[in-house]
Amino acid sequence: MPSAPARLAREEIEREVNSVPLLLALHRNRRRVTTPGNSEPDERQHRIVSALPDLRGKSVLNVAAWDGFFSFEAERLGAGRVVALDHLAWELDIAACMAHWRECNERGVKAEAGLPERFHGPAELLGKRGLDTARRLLGSRVESVMANFMETDLDALGTFDVVLFLGLKT
Ligand SMILES: C[S@@+](CC[C@H](N)C(=O)[O-])C[C@H]1O[C@@H](n2cnc3c(N)ncnc32)[C@H](O)[C@@H]1O
Repeated sequence: MPSAPARLAREEIEREVNSVPLLLALHRNRRRVTTPGNSEPDERQHRIVSALPDLRGKSVLNVAAWDGFFSFEAERLGAGRVVALDHLAWELDIAACMAHWRECNERGVKAEAGLPERFHGPAELLGKRGLDTARRLLGSRVESVMANFMETDLDALGTFDVVLFLGLKT
């Protein structure tokens, strides 16, 4: 497991974390900072993590990684290499999207169906900032691959000891 970069001052960490509108991945509060998103794992995440096989020294592919919760957990549990793969959520301005849902909820109106075009911003990769920030603050070596798993070249992706495919309906 990597150690978080000690040289980052607490204020620096707080500032960086608070600049990410939705940061879920600094789970287990390893740096003891409060994150704007959920910083504690929920019951489902606990259940999945406790059901994982022994990952020590294993290579792990986390398909649909989103903020990287399970990628960082795999690393914490001793995986030798972890690749986080996603695309949709990373291209999304998730904070704006959630604000829209919240506002609709408060006003009692129906939210637009699906993920409207205006919340997409592939160039900025706003939805990947949570993973990237957590990676940096945790001193993590988790690699990220931006790809649609359904279309990705599996030979180029390579082989892994363990593949996590969580939170997706087939
Ligand atoms: C509900 S989240 C699940 C996040 C996490 N795996 C979990 O279980 O908590 C679904 C994720 O799947 C990703 N996703 C959906 N279709 C995908 C695809 N074809 N290739 C890669 N990622 C995909 C979305 O971008 C989103 O981040």
